[in-house]
Amino acid sequence: MKKKKVKPRIPEGEAILDDLDFTMEDYSKTARKMLKGEYNRFIKFVVNDLGVNDNSKVLEIGPGPGWIGIWMAKTNISLKIIGLEISEDMIRVANKNKESEGVQDRVSFVLGNGKDMKQFSDNSFDVVISNGNLHHWEDSIQVFNEIYRVLKKDGIFCVSDGRRDLDWRGKLIFHIFKYFGPKFMRIGWKTSIMAGYTPKEVKEMLDKSNLRDKWQLTPSFMDFSIHNKLNNKK
Ligand SMILES: C[S@@+](CC[C@H](N)C(=O)[O-])C[C@H]1O[C@@H](n2cnc3c(N)ncnc32)[C@H](O)[C@@H]1O
Repeated sequence: MKKKKVKPRIPEGEAILDDLDFTMEDYSKTARKMLKGEYNRFIKFVVNDLGVNDNSKVLEIGPGPGWIGIWMAKTNISLKIIGLEISEDMIRVANKNKESEGVQDRVSFVLGNGKDMKQFSDNSFDVVISNGNLHHWEDSIQVFNEIYRVLKKDGIFCVSDGRRDLDWRGKLIFHIFKYFGPKFMRIGWKTSIMAGYTPKEVKEMLDKSNLRDKWQLTPSFMDFSIHNKLNNKK
């Protein structure tokens, strides 16, 4: 069978900042709608399928406007969420969002970079999650190493992101979104797909990290999720 040719990756910067055309408040408003779809699926997968215990301490890397963590806290009243975000503009809007949803006592956002989480000690989180981020990370292997370091010995992780090698179904959805999605999101989605990885590339990076032998990868036609529960990390 003829092998599908995938276009070379075009990296994107890390932080998403206020722009001339749109602010992080605009971004947040559109992103909130994903609580009905993509975000809801992500939360259910982590909480129900991977099995998050009550009273867990959850770290979210790159929470953006914060909706995933905020909703996890709102629907699971014993969880404590910390979002580590590289963009001060995103933190501003995430802080407004957690207050408007009334979860400010259990959700906090801190400035930082996933590749060097020096503010967190080893074995300090039950769960580490990240959605729509991997394609932004300048040093993904180092972020995987940091995820491993801060997770407790039976900790759970879930990192999901869009894939660059979309199949015909992914391309169809992308073209529909091109006409109907909000303008700034259309541009952002295109650059994020071009900066995305293929499942094969992600497996290669994971095997070079401290998460080697510990990950599972579940691909779908538009994205993939890397996840697992650590089994008695040494
Ligand atoms: C596309 S947004 C996704 C936001 C959110 N997770 C979601 O699913 O809607 C990516 C976010 O990750 C942040 N980010 C990118 N690189 C990061 C890094 N190395 N450490 C922490 N945050 C990062 C960006 O500033 C941005 O807010």
